[in-house]
Amino acid sequence: PRVIFSGIQPTGIPHLGNLLGALNNWVKLQQNARADDQLLFCIAGWHALTLPQDPAELSSARRDMIAVLLSIGLDPERSIIFHQDDNPHHTSLAWIFNCLTPMGKLRRMTTWKSRLVTARNANDESEVDESHLNVGLFTYPVLQAADILLYKATHVPVGEDQQQHLELCRDLADAVNRTYKSRVFPLPQHMITPSPRILSLRDPTSKMSKSAPEARSRIRLTDDADKIWSKMKAAVTDSQPIAYDPINRPGTTNLLTILAACTDEDVNEVAKRYSEKRHSDLKKDVAEVVNEMMRKPRAEFERLRKETEYLTKVGEVGAEKARSISERTMREVRRHVGLF
Ligand code: TYM
Repeated sequence: PRVIFSGIQPTGIPHLGNLLGALNNWVKLQQNARADDQLLFCIAGWHALTLPQDPAELSSARRDMIAVLLSIGLDPERSIIFHQDDNPHHTSLAWIFNCLTPMGKLRRMTTWKSRLVTARNANDESEVDESHLNVGLFTYPVLQAADILLYKATHVPVGEDQQQHLELCRDLADAVNRTYKSRVFPLPQHMITPSPRILSLRDPTSKMSKSAPEARSRIRLTDDADKIWSKMKAAVTDSQPIAYDPINRPGTTNLLTILAACTDEDVNEVAKRYSEKRHSDLKKDVAEVVNEMMRKPRAEFERLRKETEYLTKVGEVGAEKARSISERTMREVRRHVGLF
Protein backbone atom coordinates (compact mmCIF):
# COMPACT_ATOMS: atom_id res chain seq x y z
CA PRO A 1 0.00 0.00 0.00
CA ARG A 2 1.07 3.55 -0.66
CA VAL A 3 1.55 6.21 1.97
CA ILE A 4 1.08 9.60 0.35
CA PHE A 5 2.35 12.63 2.22
CA SER A 6 2.54 16.32 1.44
CA GLY A 7 2.56 19.68 3.17
CA ILE A 8 1.98 23.38 2.76
CA GLN A 9 3.12 26.31 4.86
CA PRO A 10 0.44 28.43 6.56
CA THR A 11 1.84 31.65 5.16
CA GLY A 12 -1.35 33.11 3.72
CA ILE A 13 -4.20 32.32 1.37
CA PRO A 14 -2.92 29.90 -1.31
CA HIS A 15 -2.40 31.25 -4.82
CA LEU A 16 -2.92 29.75 -8.25
CA GLY A 17 0.55 28.14 -8.15
CA ASN A 18 -0.24 26.31 -4.92
CA LEU A 19 -3.62 25.24 -6.28
CA LEU A 20 -2.54 24.04 -9.72
CA GLY A 21 0.92 22.85 -8.63
CA ALA A 22 -0.10 21.04 -5.47
CA LEU A 23 -3.51 21.29 -3.80
CA ASN A 24 -5.69 20.27 -6.75
CA ASN A 25 -3.48 17.23 -7.20
CA TRP A 26 -3.96 16.25 -3.59
CA VAL A 27 -7.70 16.18 -4.15
CA LYS A 28 -7.31 14.13 -7.33
CA LEU A 29 -5.08 11.69 -5.46
CA GLN A 30 -7.68 11.35 -2.75
CA GLN A 31 -10.39 10.72 -5.33
CA ASN A 32 -8.35 8.09 -7.15
CA ALA A 33 -6.79 6.47 -4.08
CA ARG A 34 -7.04 2.74 -3.55
CA ALA A 35 -8.80 1.62 -0.39
CA ASP A 36 -5.54 0.68 1.33
CA ASP A 37 -3.67 3.89 0.44
CA GLN A 38 -2.99 6.18 3.34
CA LEU A 39 -3.03 9.94 2.76
CA LEU A 40 -1.59 12.60 5.04
CA PHE A 41 -1.52 16.35 4.49
CA CYS A 42 0.21 18.59 6.96
CA ILE A 43 0.19 22.32 7.56
CA ALA A 44 3.82 23.15 8.17
CA GLY A 45 3.72 25.74 10.95
CA TRP A 46 7.31 25.10 12.01
CA HIS A 47 8.55 25.69 8.50
CA ALA A 48 6.66 28.99 8.41
CA LEU A 49 8.72 30.25 11.36
CA THR A 50 11.88 30.21 9.25
CA LEU A 51 10.76 33.58 7.86
CA PRO A 52 9.60 36.48 10.03
CA GLN A 53 5.87 36.12 10.82
CA ASP A 54 3.42 38.36 12.58
CA PRO A 55 2.07 36.12 15.39
CA ALA A 56 -1.58 37.15 15.00
CA GLU A 57 -1.43 36.73 11.22
CA LEU A 58 0.30 33.37 11.47
CA SER A 59 -2.31 32.14 13.90
CA SER A 60 -5.21 33.04 11.62
CA ALA A 61 -3.42 31.77 8.49
CA ARG A 62 -2.77 28.53 10.34
CA ARG A 63 -6.47 28.02 11.05
CA ASP A 64 -7.51 29.28 7.61
CA MET A 65 -5.35 26.62 6.01
CA ILE A 66 -7.49 23.85 7.49
CA ALA A 67 -10.51 25.62 5.97
CA VAL A 68 -8.67 25.83 2.62
CA LEU A 69 -7.87 22.11 2.59
CA LEU A 70 -11.47 21.19 3.37
CA SER A 71 -12.92 23.68 0.90
CA ILE A 72 -10.95 22.35 -2.05
CA GLY A 73 -12.34 18.89 -1.32
CA LEU A 74 -10.04 17.04 1.06
CA ASP A 75 -12.11 14.79 3.28
CA PRO A 76 -10.95 14.33 6.89
CA GLU A 77 -12.50 10.86 6.88
CA ARG A 78 -10.31 9.83 4.00
CA SER A 79 -7.14 11.93 4.52
CA ILE A 80 -5.33 12.79 7.73
CA ILE A 81 -5.27 16.60 7.83
CA PHE A 82 -3.20 18.06 10.66
CA HIS A 83 -0.89 20.74 11.96
CA GLN A 84 2.76 19.69 11.94
CA ASP A 85 3.30 21.76 15.09
CA ASP A 86 0.66 19.70 16.94
CA ASN A 87 2.95 16.70 16.72
CA PRO A 88 6.28 17.07 18.56
CA HIS A 89 7.66 13.94 16.86
CA HIS A 90 8.44 16.08 13.79
CA THR A 91 11.05 18.11 15.64
CA SER A 92 12.34 15.07 17.55
CA LEU A 93 13.07 13.19 14.35
CA ALA A 94 14.40 16.36 12.69
CA TRP A 95 16.96 16.65 15.51
CA ILE A 96 18.17 13.11 14.94
CA PHE A 97 18.37 13.81 11.21
CA ASN A 98 20.26 17.06 11.85
CA CYS A 99 22.91 14.95 13.54
CA LEU A 100 23.21 12.77 10.43
CA THR A 101 23.31 15.58 7.84
CA PRO A 102 26.58 17.10 6.64
CA MET A 103 26.56 20.92 6.48
CA GLY A 104 27.96 20.74 2.95
CA LYS A 105 24.85 19.00 1.69
CA LEU A 106 22.57 21.71 3.05
CA ARG A 107 24.80 24.42 1.61
CA ARG A 108 24.12 22.96 -1.84
CA MET A 109 20.34 23.28 -1.52
CA THR A 110 19.11 25.75 -4.11
CA THR A 111 16.54 27.14 -1.67
CA TRP A 112 19.38 28.00 0.73
CA LYS A 113 21.47 29.43 -2.10
CA SER A 114 18.60 31.66 -3.16
CA ARG A 115 18.48 33.00 0.41
CA LEU A 116 22.19 33.68 0.23
CA VAL A 117 21.68 35.81 -2.86
CA THR A 118 19.74 38.27 -0.74
CA ALA A 119 22.64 38.27 1.72
CA ARG A 120 25.20 39.11 -0.93
CA ASN A 121 27.55 41.93 -0.23
CA ALA A 122 26.44 44.80 -2.49
CA ASN A 123 30.02 45.86 -3.22
CA ASP A 124 31.56 42.46 -3.67
CA GLU A 125 29.33 39.79 -5.26
CA SER A 126 31.62 36.95 -4.24
CA GLU A 127 31.38 37.82 -0.58
CA VAL A 128 28.36 36.28 1.06
CA ASP A 129 27.37 37.16 4.55
CA GLU A 130 25.20 34.44 6.03
CA SER A 131 25.70 35.57 9.62
CA HIS A 132 22.22 37.05 9.96
CA LEU A 133 20.30 34.16 8.32
CA ASN A 134 18.68 31.93 10.90
CA VAL A 135 19.66 28.30 11.44
CA GLY A 136 16.07 27.16 10.86
CA LEU A 137 16.25 28.32 7.27
CA PHE A 138 19.43 26.30 6.82
CA THR A 139 18.03 23.07 8.21
CA TYR A 140 14.55 23.56 6.67
CA PRO A 141 14.97 20.57 4.30
CA VAL A 142 15.94 18.30 7.23
CA LEU A 143 12.67 19.09 9.00
CA GLN A 144 10.87 18.41 5.74
CA ALA A 145 12.56 14.99 5.52
CA ALA A 146 11.41 14.26 9.07
CA ASP A 147 7.82 15.22 8.14
CA ILE A 148 7.85 12.68 5.35
CA LEU A 149 9.74 9.80 6.97
CA LEU A 150 7.90 9.98 10.28
CA TYR A 151 4.97 8.38 8.45
CA LYS A 152 7.20 6.16 6.27
CA ALA A 153 5.68 7.89 3.27
CA THR A 154 6.30 6.22 -0.09
CA HIS A 155 4.94 8.99 -2.34
CA VAL A 156 5.27 12.76 -2.06
CA PRO A 157 3.25 14.97 -4.42
CA VAL A 158 5.02 18.34 -4.58
CA GLY A 159 5.88 20.92 -7.21
CA GLU A 160 9.20 20.68 -9.04
CA ASP A 161 10.67 23.38 -6.77
CA GLN A 162 10.71 20.75 -4.01
CA GLN A 163 12.61 18.08 -5.98
CA GLN A 164 15.96 18.72 -4.31
CA HIS A 165 14.42 18.58 -0.83
CA LEU A 166 13.00 15.21 -1.70
CA GLU A 167 16.40 13.97 -2.82
CA LEU A 168 17.84 14.93 0.54
CA CYS A 169 14.99 13.05 2.17
CA ARG A 170 15.84 9.91 0.20
CA ASP A 171 19.51 10.29 1.09
CA LEU A 172 18.63 10.51 4.76
CA ALA A 173 16.37 7.47 4.58
CA ASP A 174 19.17 5.56 2.88
CA ALA A 175 21.77 6.76 5.40
CA VAL A 176 19.64 5.58 8.33
CA ASN A 177 18.95 2.22 6.71
CA ARG A 178 22.66 1.64 6.06
CA THR A 179 23.88 2.90 9.41
CA TYR A 180 21.51 0.73 11.39
CA LYS A 181 21.54 -2.16 8.89
CA SER A 182 17.80 -2.33 8.81
CA ARG A 183 15.11 -1.15 6.43
CA VAL A 184 13.72 1.49 8.75
CA PHE A 185 12.49 3.84 6.02
CA PRO A 186 11.24 3.45 2.46
CA LEU A 187 12.86 5.74 -0.13
CA PRO A 188 9.97 8.06 -0.96
CA GLN A 189 9.31 8.96 -4.58
CA HIS A 190 8.46 12.29 -6.10
CA MET A 191 4.96 11.80 -7.37
CA ILE A 192 4.68 12.39 -11.04
CA THR A 193 1.54 14.44 -11.18
CA PRO A 194 0.97 16.83 -14.04
CA SER A 195 1.94 19.75 -11.84
CA PRO A 196 2.94 22.79 -13.85
CA ARG A 197 5.14 25.54 -12.46
CA ILE A 198 3.02 28.67 -12.39
CA LEU A 199 4.89 31.93 -12.91
CA SER A 200 4.37 35.41 -11.53
CA LEU A 201 1.88 37.41 -13.60
CA ARG A 202 4.07 40.51 -13.30
CA ASP A 203 7.51 38.96 -13.68
CA PRO A 204 7.18 35.70 -15.60
CA THR A 205 10.85 34.87 -15.10
CA SER A 206 10.13 33.95 -11.47
CA LYS A 207 7.56 31.62 -9.94
CA MET A 208 4.28 32.82 -8.50
CA SER A 209 4.92 33.19 -4.78
CA LYS A 210 3.11 34.14 -1.61
CA SER A 211 5.86 36.53 -0.59
CA ALA A 212 6.46 38.60 -3.75
CA PRO A 213 5.76 42.26 -2.90
CA GLU A 214 3.40 42.97 -5.80
CA ALA A 215 -0.13 41.68 -5.07
CA ARG A 216 -0.99 41.68 -8.79
CA SER A 217 1.68 39.02 -9.38
CA ARG A 218 -0.57 36.29 -7.95
CA ILE A 219 -4.21 35.24 -7.93
CA ARG A 220 -5.43 34.07 -4.54
CA LEU A 221 -8.19 31.63 -3.70
CA THR A 222 -10.21 34.50 -2.19
CA ASP A 223 -10.06 36.74 -5.30
CA ASP A 224 -13.46 37.29 -6.92
CA ALA A 225 -14.19 37.47 -10.66
CA ASP A 226 -13.48 41.21 -10.88
CA LYS A 227 -10.19 40.95 -9.08
CA ILE A 228 -9.10 37.99 -11.19
CA TRP A 229 -9.91 39.91 -14.35
CA SER A 230 -8.07 43.05 -13.28
CA LYS A 231 -4.96 41.03 -12.34
CA MET A 232 -5.19 39.13 -15.61
CA LYS A 233 -5.39 42.37 -17.59
CA ALA A 234 -2.18 43.50 -15.88
CA ALA A 235 -0.38 40.22 -16.67
CA VAL A 236 2.87 40.72 -18.57
CA THR A 237 2.83 39.16 -22.06
CA ASP A 238 4.20 40.25 -25.45
CA SER A 239 2.78 41.36 -28.78
CA GLN A 240 3.74 38.42 -31.01
CA PRO A 241 1.16 35.87 -32.18
CA ILE A 242 0.24 33.48 -29.37
CA ALA A 243 2.46 30.37 -29.15
CA TYR A 244 3.83 27.99 -26.55
CA ASP A 245 7.47 28.88 -25.92
CA PRO A 246 8.55 28.60 -22.27
CA ILE A 247 12.08 29.86 -22.88
CA ASN A 248 11.52 32.95 -24.98
CA ARG A 249 7.92 33.82 -24.15
CA PRO A 250 7.35 32.93 -20.50
CA GLY A 251 4.47 35.38 -19.97
CA THR A 252 2.29 34.11 -22.82
CA THR A 253 3.28 30.52 -22.07
CA ASN A 254 2.31 30.95 -18.42
CA LEU A 255 -1.22 31.96 -19.41
CA LEU A 256 -1.51 28.96 -21.73
CA THR A 257 -0.23 26.71 -18.92
CA ILE A 258 -2.82 28.09 -16.50
CA LEU A 259 -5.62 27.64 -19.01
CA ALA A 260 -4.61 24.07 -19.82
CA ALA A 261 -4.26 23.17 -16.14
CA CYS A 262 -7.69 24.58 -15.28
CA THR A 263 -9.44 22.77 -18.12
CA ASP A 264 -7.33 19.58 -17.98
CA GLU A 265 -6.25 19.96 -21.59
CA ASP A 266 -2.95 19.45 -23.35
CA VAL A 267 -1.13 22.79 -23.41
CA ASN A 268 -0.08 22.36 -27.05
CA GLU A 269 -3.69 21.87 -28.07
CA VAL A 270 -4.60 25.04 -26.23
CA ALA A 271 -1.76 26.94 -27.90
CA LYS A 272 -2.95 25.78 -31.32
CA ARG A 273 -6.47 26.96 -30.60
CA TYR A 274 -5.24 30.44 -29.74
CA SER A 275 -2.64 30.85 -32.48
CA GLU A 276 -4.95 33.14 -34.48
CA LYS A 277 -6.42 34.97 -31.51
CA ARG A 278 -5.34 38.04 -29.60
CA HIS A 279 -3.78 38.22 -26.15
CA SER A 280 -6.85 40.04 -24.87
CA ASP A 281 -8.99 37.02 -25.88
CA LEU A 282 -6.59 34.66 -24.12
CA LYS A 283 -6.59 36.78 -20.96
CA LYS A 284 -10.36 36.95 -20.90
CA ASP A 285 -10.67 33.18 -21.26
CA VAL A 286 -7.99 32.50 -18.63
CA ALA A 287 -9.76 34.81 -16.17
CA GLU A 288 -12.99 32.95 -16.85
CA VAL A 289 -11.66 29.41 -16.38
CA VAL A 290 -9.70 30.42 -13.27
CA ASN A 291 -12.82 31.99 -11.80
CA GLU A 292 -14.81 28.88 -12.69
CA MET A 293 -12.21 26.58 -11.13
CA MET A 294 -12.14 28.63 -7.92
CA ARG A 295 -15.85 29.42 -7.65
CA LYS A 296 -16.91 26.49 -5.46
CA PRO A 297 -13.85 26.24 -3.19
CA ARG A 298 -13.87 30.03 -2.73
CA ALA A 299 -17.48 30.05 -1.53
CA GLU A 300 -16.89 26.99 0.61
CA PHE A 301 -13.80 28.60 2.13
CA GLU A 302 -15.68 31.78 3.06
CA ARG A 303 -18.34 29.65 4.74
CA LEU A 304 -15.95 27.30 6.54
CA ARG A 305 -13.44 29.84 7.82
CA LYS A 306 -16.07 31.10 10.27
CA GLU A 307 -16.67 27.62 11.67
CA THR A 308 -13.77 27.92 14.07
CA GLU A 309 -14.87 25.17 16.43
CA TYR A 310 -15.26 22.70 13.63
CA LEU A 311 -11.85 23.64 12.21
CA THR A 312 -10.22 23.16 15.61
CA LYS A 313 -11.90 19.78 15.91
CA VAL A 314 -10.69 18.64 12.48
CA GLY A 315 -7.14 19.65 13.43
CA GLU A 316 -7.30 17.82 16.74
CA VAL A 317 -8.64 14.61 15.25
CA GLY A 318 -6.00 14.74 12.52
CA ALA A 319 -3.18 15.36 15.00
CA GLU A 320 -4.34 12.45 17.14
CA LYS A 321 -4.22 10.08 14.15
CA ALA A 322 -0.86 11.48 13.02
CA ARG A 323 0.71 11.07 16.46
CA SER A 324 -0.41 7.48 16.79
CA ILE A 325 1.38 6.58 13.54
CA SER A 326 4.53 8.59 14.25
CA GLU A 327 4.76 7.21 17.78
CA ARG A 328 5.63 3.81 16.31
CA THR A 329 8.30 5.26 14.03
CA MET A 330 9.88 7.24 16.86
CA ARG A 331 10.02 4.21 19.11
CA GLU A 332 11.74 2.26 16.36
CA VAL A 333 14.22 5.05 15.56
CA ARG A 334 15.05 5.65 19.22
CA ARG A 335 15.79 1.95 19.62
CA HIS A 336 18.18 2.06 16.66
CA VAL A 337 20.09 5.14 17.82
CA GLY A 338 20.32 4.00 21.44
CA LEU A 339 17.84 6.31 23.09
CA PHE A 340 15.90 3.68 25.00
P1 TYM B 1 4.84 25.78 0.08
O1 TYM B 1 3.84 26.20 1.08
O2 TYM B 1 5.87 26.77 -0.31
O3 TYM B 1 4.14 25.33 -1.26
C1 TYM B 1 3.12 24.34 -1.25
C2 TYM B 1 3.11 23.58 -2.57
O4 TYM B 1 2.87 24.47 -3.66
C3 TYM B 1 3.82 24.25 -4.69
N1 TYM B 1 4.07 25.54 -5.35
C4 TYM B 1 3.96 25.77 -6.67
N2 TYM B 1 3.65 24.95 -7.69
C5 TYM B 1 3.61 25.49 -8.94
N3 TYM B 1 3.88 26.78 -9.21
C6 TYM B 1 4.19 27.65 -8.22
N4 TYM B 1 4.43 28.93 -8.51
C7 TYM B 1 4.25 27.15 -6.88
N5 TYM B 1 4.54 27.71 -5.68
C8 TYM B 1 4.41 26.71 -4.75
C9 TYM B 1 5.05 23.70 -3.96
O5 TYM B 1 5.84 22.89 -4.81
C10 TYM B 1 4.44 22.86 -2.86
O6 TYM B 1 4.16 21.53 -3.31
N6 TYM B 1 8.45 22.82 1.83
C11 TYM B 1 7.06 22.78 1.42
C12 TYM B 1 6.11 22.49 2.56
C13 TYM B 1 6.40 21.20 3.25
C14 TYM B 1 6.32 19.88 2.69
C15 TYM B 1 6.70 19.00 3.72
C16 TYM B 1 6.00 19.39 1.42
C17 TYM B 1 6.79 21.04 4.54
N7 TYM B 1 6.98 19.72 4.82
C18 TYM B 1 6.75 17.60 3.51
C19 TYM B 1 6.04 18.01 1.23
C20 TYM B 1 6.42 17.12 2.24
C21 TYM B 1 6.75 24.15 0.81
O7 TYM B 1 7.61 24.95 0.60
O8 TYM B 1 5.46 24.44 0.61
